Amino acid sequence: MRILVTGGAGFIGSAVTRLLAQQRGATVLVVDKLTYAGDRRSIRDCEGKHGFQFLEADICDLPRMRAAMAEFRPDAVMHLAAESHVDRSITGAADFIQTNIHGTFCMLEAARAYHASLDGAAKATFRFHHISTDEVFGSLGPTGAFSETTAYDPRSPYSASKASSDHLVRAWHETYGLPVLVTNCSNNYGPYHFPEKLIPLVILNALEGRDLPVYGDGSNIRDWLHVEDHARALVTVVERGRVGETYCIGGRAERRNLAVVETICDVLDQRRPAVRPRRELIRFVTDRPGHDQRYAIDCSKIERELGWRQQESFESGIAGTIDWYLANDWWWRPLREGKYTGERLGLLPAKAG
Ligand SMILES: NC(=O)c1ccc[n+]([C@@H]2O[C@H](COP(=O)([O-])OP(=O)(O)OC[C@H]3O[C@@H](n4cnc5c(N)ncnc54)[C@H](O)[C@@H]3O)[C@@H](O)[C@H]2O)c1
Repeated sequence: MRILVTGGAGFIGSAVTRLLAQQRGATVLVVDKLTYAGDRRSIRDCEGKHGFQFLEADICDLPRMRAAMAEFRPDAVMHLAAESHVDRSITGAADFIQTNIHGTFCMLEAARAYHASLDGAAKATFRFHHISTDEVFGSLGPTGAFSETTAYDPRSPYSASKASSDHLVRAWHETYGLPVLVTNCSNNYGPYHFPEKLIPLVILNALEGRDLPVYGDGSNIRDWLHVEDHARALVTVVERGRVGETYCIGGRAERRNLAVVETICDVLDQRRPAVRPRRELIRFVTDRPGHDQRYAIDCSKIERELGWRQQESFESGIAGTIDWYLANDWWWRPLREGKYTGERLGLLPAKAG
């Protein structure tokens, strides 16, 4: 398989790239702009594997995307490049609109031209796989779960931009016959996760004895999916998913944010005992504006139709993730000292009067 992976230097894209290039013997072209969230060190072990190639480029550059597809001749495009942090979308939505919506439009147009140039088996088997989020479905009450038939109800600039991109992808399928697949997944965690996100931020702050910020009262619930389980699901979908279908991917691991932070404290206390229990570092801070209360995913469709299952429980996954951060400070330390030092993101200015 020849796979073009956009955003392959990011958190999930790098897990997909490592799986494809190191374990599946695929030839991968990563297209990545290397924003603050992209890091070639996350895929350094793929260099030299099966013709692996890296193209530093912006997905909004349509002529370059057309040329990349024409030259690389992918069997599939896996589109993960995006601005991905909700907090950053609250204070600076422009990049989200540009990359997530216009960038997806450019990828679709490039793929449409490339697909039209194919014939025979290559045309019949080409796939455009768009990777999206469960946040497009909005916020749940105490019960129920999102599924492939849930109506869209995005509430943050990030989720609205991802919802827009999902609609574009489906429109390119219905209107132009582009063979697309869409996946919507829950919150990922695992190795190589940029330390602005909850789990790596808490692991590293706890390790350094710094405050552990918990938004609001910590009661918001997320479903947690290990990034390597997610990568396996994505490769399964691109190989065997039915064209035009959506698949929801979840971890079957709902946890309150406070419980996630407490678990990290407890595992770290076992691994690296500190003077006082790390739970004492927890600080409740001003909530995120428009903070969705609960996400949960019904992933029975991908389990039933494609036979995918999570391999990690939350307990095994979080312990492995903590061990990875303990063993790999070469990866995160330069990020903590340079690109993001842990300051609060995503707060609106206080209202006057
Ligand atoms: N992380 C999650 O929990 C999660 C959950 C559901 C869905 N998703 C989706 O999965 C995808 C990957 O998420 P992630 O967490 O790996 O994100 P990430 O922020 O870690 O990585 C994004 C990557 O895209 C690249 N990129 C950004 N703008 C670009 C542009 N204009 N052109 C080319 N490359 C660009 C960045 O350099 C980076 O390497 C995104 O589409 C995201 O919406 C993520």
